[in-house]
Amino acid sequence: MATIVGAITSSHVPAIGGAIAKGRQQEPYWKPFFDGYPPAHAWLARAKPDVAVIFYNDHGLNFFLDKLPTFAVGAAPEYRNADEGWGIPTVRPFAGDPALSWHLIESLVADEFDITMCQEMLVDHACTLPMALLWPGGGAWPVRIVPIAMNHVQHPLPSLKRSFALGRAVGRALDAWESNDRILVIGTGGLSHQLDGERAGFINKPFDLMCMDAMVNEPEKLTRYSTLDIVREAGAQGTELMAWVAARGALTGRVTKVHSSYHIPVSNTATGLMVLENQPLPAARAA
Ligand code: DHB
Ligand code: FE
Repeated sequence: MATIVGAITSSHVPAIGGAIAKGRQQEPYWKPFFDGYPPAHAWLARAKPDVAVIFYNDHGLNFFLDKLPTFAVGAAPEYRNADEGWGIPTVRPFAGDPALSWHLIESLVADEFDITMCQEMLVDHACTLPMALLWPGGGAWPVRIVPIAMNHVQHPLPSLKRSFALGRAVGRALDAWESNDRILVIGTGGLSHQLDGERAGFINKPFDLMCMDAMVNEPEKLTRYSTLDIVREAGAQGTELMAWVAARGALTGRVTKVHSSYHIPVSNTATGLMVLENQPLPAARAA
């Protein structure tokens, strides 16, 4: 059976791509942010994932307002990045894992999640930048990916409760995946930020720290917040927390925190990183 090794949750601000391209990691503005990542690299070297299932939100590259699925699962052999207009270089394509994608799709639909299945899918900065932060160097990616895009663009957005349930269903499917793969779950976005309107630049550190704390042992606590609660507490784009909550939902075992970092601001965003290890429970492995 496959093994879920853990989850990593990370912010995905486009300016990070510019800092990487220009080699600014050691500059005073960027150093506190990039310094959060070496412990994640060390853990990844131990956890040795073969494949990453990535919960993220597409910002208008692959889906736009004309057609916007609530949840979409990639089933492509390869995922390319493309210019979104941020002025950052595109990254190398990612290898997909169509067999795992179709297993997830079958399992999610059987579990009554009416997802959209995508045999072609461009991936935007919300997928590429966390990958570039976790595996720096711009070399060949050491993992295959299965991207799961969540609607964070056009209201009504999926609730945190539903996002957590999606993650739970993904976790059950991964536990039932008959392979020797070691699977990493990634959730990207957040933490508090608002990019436009009267509250542009809004950040809520106490709320963010409460969320990071709850992510470890009490993720259900976060599912009690409605989408509008999150907009109020974490800003309009703070709703990206949905991908963190989905990733946490996919951890089916005993969860321990390996590492976290939090830094304000990068651009308009309060940035967070968490590394959560998953110890599979015997019951899940036998299922
Ligand atoms: C910023 C943050 C995001 O999450 C995003 O998708 C785009 C921009 C920002 O703070 O600049
Ligand atoms: Fe975003």
